[in-house]
Amino acid sequence: MRVLVTGGAGFIGSHLVEALLARGDSVAVLDDLSTGRAENLAAVLDHPRLAFLRADVRDTARCAACVEEADALFHLAAHVGVRRILAHTLESLLNNVQATAALLEQAARRKRRVILFSSSEVYGKGRGGVLEESDDLVLGAPGVARWSYGTGKALDETLALAWHRERGLPVTVVRCFNTCGPRQTDRYGMVLPTFIRQALGGSPLTVFGDGGQTRCFSHVGDVVRGTLMLLAAPGSIGEVFNVGNDEEIAIGALAERIVALTGSRSPIVRVPYAHALGGGFEDVRRRVPSLAKIRAFVGYEPRVGLEELLRLTIAAARAEGDEREPRTPGAALPAGGRAP
Ligand SMILES: NC(=O)c1ccc[n+]([C@@H]2O[C@H](COP(=O)([O-])OP(=O)(O)OC[C@H]3O[C@@H](n4cnc5c(N)ncnc54)[C@H](O)[C@@H]3O)[C@@H](O)[C@H]2O)c1
Repeated sequence: MRVLVTGGAGFIGSHLVEALLARGDSVAVLDDLSTGRAENLAAVLDHPRLAFLRADVRDTARCAACVEEADALFHLAAHVGVRRILAHTLESLLNNVQATAALLEQAARRKRRVILFSSSEVYGKGRGGVLEESDDLVLGAPGVARWSYGTGKALDETLALAWHRERGLPVTVVRCFNTCGPRQTDRYGMVLPTFIRQALGGSPLTVFGDGGQTRCFSHVGDVVRGTLMLLAAPGSIGEVFNVGNDEEIAIGALAERIVALTGSRSPIVRVPYAHALGGGFEDVRRRVPSLAKIRAFVGYEPRVGLEELLRLTIAAARAEGDEREPRTPGAALPAGGRAP
């Protein structure tokens, strides 16, 4: 297949690109490097079946040319992360919604197969139970910037499904939950890489609120595998799927696991939301995906449990840290094992 991956120089995108190349596809990456990095693709940049184009998906002519050449499209290009969304709400919202609208229109004109990356953020506050694809979305008020990312992703989904119903676009929507693994940056406020950096650097792990809020973390390899299974299943067209892992952990307990696994001496501190993310910040208390639908459609099962995910991600962070900051031979290292 010839596959276009928008956002292919980002965290998930770069893993997806590697998987597509490994199974023999030709891959074009369209990425403006606004938050992604060419280094994410370092292992495959010279691959004869990879083409990289640095451009904005909203650049209609270039987007159309890329779509024309592709049999299937994975649309991941978006600005992500709580910190980035709060700091640049309008820019992020416009970027995400306009890029998706542009891509869907080009794909629909040519009837290309599309996998659209959405987010568990569309569920908003949820109702406290396990989240199913058909659930109502319980998003907060439009004036609260924190909900703008989920609102934008919900609009992306609505657009995609309308293109499907009214113009026959063969699209599948995937709602990723917290996805982690090598190359994920902590720059935009992602909790797991932030805790790992703090633990390895010997600084306090900052748990927002009381730490009782829960999340489910999945390995990026599982997410990539799940989306490839959906691509291959014609019955998934016009449908929305949760993709992730349903192993639930409280954020306070996650911090404790990371301290234990890194052997760090870092303390764990509680930080009020208002202090960390500004007054009026509303968090989601519980976020657990139902995987019943993706299991029933394509037999997807997550393979990497939380413990293994943490070990793999910590090992990758240590290796990346070693590459960035070569250790002074013989220098004493702190308990985290890495030079601060
Ligand atoms: N990482 C997660 O936990 C998670 C959870 C839910 C959903 N998702 C979704 O998965 C997708 C990928 O997320 P990620 O974590 O890899 O983020 P990322 O920031 O690493 O990757 C996004 C990529 O999109 C690029 N990009 C952004 N706007 C662009 C534009 N207008 N034109 C071209 N390129 C553009 C960025 O440069 C970056 O390389 C996103 O759509 C995100 O909403 C991720």
